[in-house]
This record gives sequence, structure tokens and C-alpha cells, in this order.
Amino acid sequence: MSGIGACLLGLGLMLLAACNDMVDQPKQKAYSPQVGPAAVPSDTVEFQSAPLSAPPVTLALLERGQERFRIYCTPCHSELGDGQGMVVQRGFPAPPSYHIDRLRQAPPQHFFDVITQGHGTMYSFAERVQPADRWAIAAYIRALQRSQNATLSDVAPQQRGTLP
Ligand code: HEC
Repeated sequence: MSGIGACLLGLGLMLLAACNDMVDQPKQKAYSPQVGPAAVPSDTVEFQSAPLSAPPVTLALLERGQERFRIYCTPCHSELGDGQGMVVQRGFPAPPSYHIDRLRQAPPQHFFDVITQGHGTMYSFAERVQPADRWAIAAYIRALQRSQNATLSDVAPQQRGTLP
């Protein structure tokens, strides 16, 4: 048999096999009665199962918050939180800086709520940022705020001599 003939035969067999798969495939017909709610896969995290109040601040929480913040918030708020992210530099309305007094005094709950509900022109991130991660981001924003307003008294005495 020529090369091309073998090829065509192979192709034909593949198509035949594909057809059979389609016919044998189990399927749910539209409007047929439901057999009950779909089973939740075992490795799924329930979306609302996270704590509803702020968890204690740990290094792990801040690191998680930093990672999520960089993904979801820096395009507009920037790495510094001054509201001059890349999207803003390209014309999106500028958010307020996180370092204004009002936001420095705002409780973590406010950041949680803004992420959940959105705020003015800022859309909600509830679909993309899980509740536990909203607390992590809120804690990271607080750390950012402190970093931009730090004084010498925030540095441990034994480390003050090492500052440039
Ligand atoms: C697409 C741009 C964009 C992204 C991404 C974005 N924001 Fe915003 N954010 C804004 C804008 C614009 C405002 C100002 C909205 C207004 O006042 O109308 C704002 C306002 C805020 C405020 C201030 C609310 C207040 O009380 O004035 C907080 C806090 C905030 N955003 C947090 C976040 C966090 C946390 C994320 C990431 C999960 C995020 N934003 C992602 C654009 C964005």
C-alpha cells in the first residue's frame, strides 16, 4: 500500500472511532428531570467558607496578600499604592492614594468591603478574590501604608545603624 493510502485508511479509522465515541457518550438531555445537585469535586474549596472577620496578621498572610495585590490591584493602584498604576497611566480614572489620611485611618473591613462590592468606578473583585484573600490583601495594604509613612521610631533600635 502506498504512503498516501495508509494515511487515508488511518484517517478513516480515526473518524470512525470518533463517530462511535459521540454516539456512546452519556449525556443529559435538555429539560430532562434533574437527578439532584451536581456532586462537588473533593478538592474544591468552598467559596464562602473563609473567616468573616479579619484573621491575625502573620508573615504568611502578608506574603499571600502581597502576591494577590500584585496580580489584581497594581495595574491601577501601583506597587506603592499611590494610584498611579499602568492602567491609570493609559487613561483609566485614577484611584485615590492609599496614603491619604482617610484611607490610613480606615479599618481593614473597609478594604475587604471595597474588594467585595467595588467602589464608584472600581468594579467588584468578589468573583476573583476569595474572602480569605481579601483579608490578606487588606493586611498587605496596611503594611504598604506603614511602609510609606515610616519614621525612625518604626525601626528596631539595633537595626537603626544599618540604614543608609
Ligand atoms: C481597573 C483599575 C482598578 C483595579 C484593578 C483596582 N482598583 Fe481599587 N480603585 C480604582 C478606582 C478608579 C478607585 C476610585 C473609585 C471612585 O472613588 O470612584 C478605586 C478605589 C479603591 C479604594 C478606595 C476606596 C475609598 O474609600 O475611596 C480601595 C481601598 C481600593 N480601590 C482597593 C483596591 C484593591 C484592594 C484592589 C485589588 C483587589 C483594587 N482596588 C483594584 C481602580 C481600580
